[in-house]
Amino acid sequence: MTRRLFTVGPVEVRDEVLEAMKKPMIVHRGKDYTRLQRGIVEKLHKVLDTDLHILMAPASASGLLESCVRCGVKSKMLGISNGSFGERWQTIGLANGKIVKKIDVPWGRAVRSVDVEGRVDDEVEAISVVSNESSTGVLNPLGEIISTVRSKHDPLVFIDGVTAVGAVDLRLKKLCVDALVFGTQKALALPPGLAIICVSDRLLEKAGKVESRGYYFDLLEIKKYADKDLPLTTPPISLLYGLDFQLDRMIKEGMPNRYRRHAEMAEVVRSWASKRLGLYAEDGYRSNTITVVNKGNLDFESMHEKLKERNLEISAGYGKIKEETFRIGHMGDLTVEDVRFLVRTIDEIMEAMR
Ligand SMILES: Cc1ncc(COP(=O)(O)O)c(C=O)c1O
Repeated sequence: MTRRLFTVGPVEVRDEVLEAMKKPMIVHRGKDYTRLQRGIVEKLHKVLDTDLHILMAPASASGLLESCVRCGVKSKMLGISNGSFGERWQTIGLANGKIVKKIDVPWGRAVRSVDVEGRVDDEVEAISVVSNESSTGVLNPLGEIISTVRSKHDPLVFIDGVTAVGAVDLRLKKLCVDALVFGTQKALALPPGLAIICVSDRLLEKAGKVESRGYYFDLLEIKKYADKDLPLTTPPISLLYGLDFQLDRMIKEGMPNRYRRHAEMAEVVRSWASKRLGLYAEDGYRSNTITVVNKGNLDFESMHEKLKERNLEISAGYGKIKEETFRIGHMGDLTVEDVRFLVRTIDEIMEAMR
């Protein structure tokens, strides 16, 4: 029996999706390939409800987080953080020789207007912010953050949507972002290996003025090929078959239904965790894909071993709160019934451990 994953990624991939990836190989410069890529991009536009350009790169999501910095920032950016992945983007900026002004909000709290007010200046070319902070289980209010920033300044807005896209309605048309980055291994419920970015004209125009953008992750180079439905370099074709199949499944489910299912799964886990152990993230801003649970006196390692013996797996805490918390992923193709079964099983194990 295969183990069921309630992890924060990679997440469980359905057998029928894995099956769809078994199609024969095709070369990536022929008509069969261009048809596949064109279809995927059309479906992504539909599923995400966006008119932004959609580009892909064979990498984990971090590759395209780095693209944003390398293509959109000549000198200075503002990295907004309330967890490990916010910090990650600040680190990527620094590692690429940019000046990174930082806003560090306490972990567990959402980034709010007050945190960003007065912190942007005319030299800030771009701001980076995480939608769903996977280390703390906080869903940041992007609309509030972006409108506060834009009330006085107009930097590029880069969003890490890694554990939000496909599970949370980001209302992209309203948000007016310049980059939204995500990967296949989270709420899209596919294996890892492909990074995807929604990009604005503004960011592409800016990239034209930035030097040393590199090659592999240069958005302009990738776009040049994407305009002909081609990849810059050899793509993970099997994964693209899976993505194409999965997008059809998402369209069939209907995105409002998909978003509702994620909200319902989160509600089940949150209500269980708040009664048993306590939640790390502040009320009102809790994630619909990842619940971060306070460990308290629970021997998490023993509980998790017993859970794995029953073919169920969750995730450890992350970053500086690794020792205090653990995480439950409820995203992708899991169902409300699946998460109910998970929390019932954890209850049984915790009862037996007393
Ligand atoms: C919010 C967030 N951003 C970025 C990343 C990094 O993504 P990847 O490992 O696909 O590069 C992760 C991975 O867990 C994440 O959860």
